Amino acid sequence: MAEPARLAGVVRYYDTHPINEAQILEHLRRRGIPLDRLTEDELKAHDQDHYGGIDAVDALAAAAGIRADDHVLDICSGMGGPARYLAHRFGCRVTGIDLTRSRVESARRLTALVGLAERVAFVHGDALALPFADSAFDVVIGQEAWVHVPDKPRLIAEAVRVLRREGRIAFTDILERGSMPEATRARLEQGMTYASYGSLERYPRWLETQGCRMLRVDDLSAEWTRILRDRLAMYRSLRDTTTTRFGAERAAEWDDIYAFFVAQYEAGVLGGGRFVAVKG
Ligand SMILES: C[S@@+](CC[C@H](N)C(=O)[O-])C[C@H]1O[C@@H](n2cnc3c(N)ncnc32)[C@H](O)[C@@H]1O
Repeated sequence: MAEPARLAGVVRYYDTHPINEAQILEHLRRRGIPLDRLTEDELKAHDQDHYGGIDAVDALAAAAGIRADDHVLDICSGMGGPARYLAHRFGCRVTGIDLTRSRVESARRLTALVGLAERVAFVHGDALALPFADSAFDVVIGQEAWVHVPDKPRLIAEAVRVLRREGRIAFTDILERGSMPEATRARLEQGMTYASYGSLERYPRWLETQGCRMLRVDDLSAEWTRILRDRLAMYRSLRDTTTTRFGAERAAEWDDIYAFFVAQYEAGVLGGGRFVAVKG
């Protein structure tokens, strides 16, 4: 697929995602939470677009040893759930970068709403061309997003470039396990805008090529298979709001591709992993 069409596909996918700012705020409103006094403690359970919620962010933060004096970069930060949570929990500064302008705008609004804008900022941009100086960050993180980025060696090179010496890189991602049938790859590319896959073996190799020292690799495949079953049920519970917001066709299409995606976990074609390394 040509690069501009591929990028436009990712943006369209997130512009019509069932989890979005309006849906989150509506959910909070229905629970009787006053939005003019919204706190990060109230928001944090609803704005994380990865698997395992804030527990997964805590696990990543513990593995990376995030501290108050760190400046963290979240590559593919979405609506900024992990960025806000890290700043709130550890007192660190966080910058997020994301390709989808609507996600960046939502991230900024939600961050202002919970009073974290002084320590958490968001930039619109592509993970393959990070608009940051060399060695600008102490920690780089990412969650369930780098599967959208086609050139993984270049992505890792960019992430490591902006990390200071002895800085930590910690991320989780959707992985290929074994070899994926071509028809499955094509359907996931078309329906989920997945561009290429890392694996438990490939990501450490790419990190080591950039001079990183691996601290740990965790296979999350079994845990994510359980989480994803629940996530499919959650998306099905949102079907009416997805239909109202994006139309019946998009809601049906989402259900179809997400069920197919979860089936790939059940079948052992897709997996998940957490990778933590230090820049040497
Ligand atoms: C599943 S969301 C994850 C968001 C966030 N990590 C979280 O856990 O809440 C994936 C995000 O990756 C972003 N993305 C995809 N390709 C990108 C790229 N090439 N550069 C920057 N962001 C990208 C999408 O716009 C989307 O917001």
